Amino acid sequence: MSETQIQEIKTKLAKEGQMQLMRFFDQLGEAEKENLLRQIEHVDFDMIRHAMASPASVSRESLIEPIHTVTVKEQEAQQKRWEKVGREALSQGKAAAVILAGGQGTRLGFNGPKGTLNVGITKEKYLFEILLENIRRNTKGCEAVMPVYIMTSVVNHEATEQFLKAHDCFGYPKDKIHLFKQDMAPALSLNGKILMESPSSLCLAPNGNGGWFRSLLRAGLIEEMKADGVEWLNVVSVDNVLQNIGDPVFLGAAIDGGFGCGAKVISKVSPDERVGAICLRNHHPSVVEYTELTDEMRLARRENGEYLYQFGVTLNYLFKIADTEAKAGHTMPIHQAVKKVPCLDEAGNMIVPEEPNAIKMEYFIFDILEFFDDCLVYECIREDEFAPIKNKSGVDSLDTARDLYQAKFGQVL
Ligand code: UTP
Repeated sequence: MSETQIQEIKTKLAKEGQMQLMRFFDQLGEAEKENLLRQIEHVDFDMIRHAMASPASVSRESLIEPIHTVTVKEQEAQQKRWEKVGREALSQGKAAAVILAGGQGTRLGFNGPKGTLNVGITKEKYLFEILLENIRRNTKGCEAVMPVYIMTSVVNHEATEQFLKAHDCFGYPKDKIHLFKQDMAPALSLNGKILMESPSSLCLAPNGNGGWFRSLLRAGLIEEMKADGVEWLNVVSVDNVLQNIGDPVFLGAAIDGGFGCGAKVISKVSPDERVGAICLRNHHPSVVEYTELTDEMRLARRENGEYLYQFGVTLNYLFKIADTEAKAGHTMPIHQAVKKVPCLDEAGNMIVPEEPNAIKMEYFIFDILEFFDDCLVYECIREDEFAPIKNKSGVDSLDTARDLYQAKFGQVL
């Protein structure tokens, strides 16, 4: 990097009040200096300013109301027609899958990209393998192969790439699988200063699953998809072994109804279940997190006894590219969490905090729904489509996912 570029970065840091990042600069070797400067270049300073200016952005003032859900019962009469419409679109290559796999899976504590987790007991069976099989099952008989875009982060990109290569993409056509990296967000001290994990690197973490569309745009992949005739994206989490990707009926229902987006939901087992509930927020589709639901809202019922906020999201969404692109410039809320993040102190010593010392910032995917006027909220049957792996044991763990997979497919993993 030239002297002029270094000077520009220093000026920027001074303006943003982040000069502490240059504290150890003069003691670094050339390669370390380059590493630090490159990381600083990729910092989203707008995100930091926005987060520090509105620390309460998540608990924003909102009017929360119920949203109409197309229940399984309501789907029955239309199912055949929607399936035909969806299969036609899949056959014409109009839909691609986007698998969000850039998370760190901290609750599970698995050392590697979550998609590379071996779910099998009697044989090897990996999460990525299961998801690709789920796509194949849905698109069987369709003329086109569904393109698959996998979002990684700098932390797990290489490991994901090598894993898929080593397993020959589990037989899925290699030219139909594309990896792209999401952006990273720095961890901040409680007064908004970027923390460092070494004299030549920042404390960085993936910036949440809500940045997927912008990351695809920046990578030039939206243009590529459009050139290939892709119109719809089925955006899903990586960690649900029953994830129903490329479901022709859901796609057909969205196309048929003229929607710009859709969300799969399940009926919650109880009002206390810890999943985000689909709702209208200030008259737009949205998700209210379980932590945000007041007791009054949790327990509110319709006259027929059903709960008003009965349906939780499964992280399986449809987005029409043309409609989403038009909203790509909108400002998304930043979700902040105060966490313990090991970092350097002013003297350059590594400290492992005993109390939360850092703000982590993330964008959430469901906030994108709010940019739309309407959303197809589509119920699916929990036992058919929802078996997430979030925790080491207990609820939503490897054990529960294996049992649910076995119950659905009759196969011991
Ligand atoms: P979660 O919110 O469950 O996060 O992600 P996680 O990283 O898997 O697990 P914890 O919370 O650290 O324990 C839901 C989906 O969003 C993806 C995850 O990979 C998962 O598929 N995700 C999450 C990203 O792609 N990027 C992120 O920055 C965060």
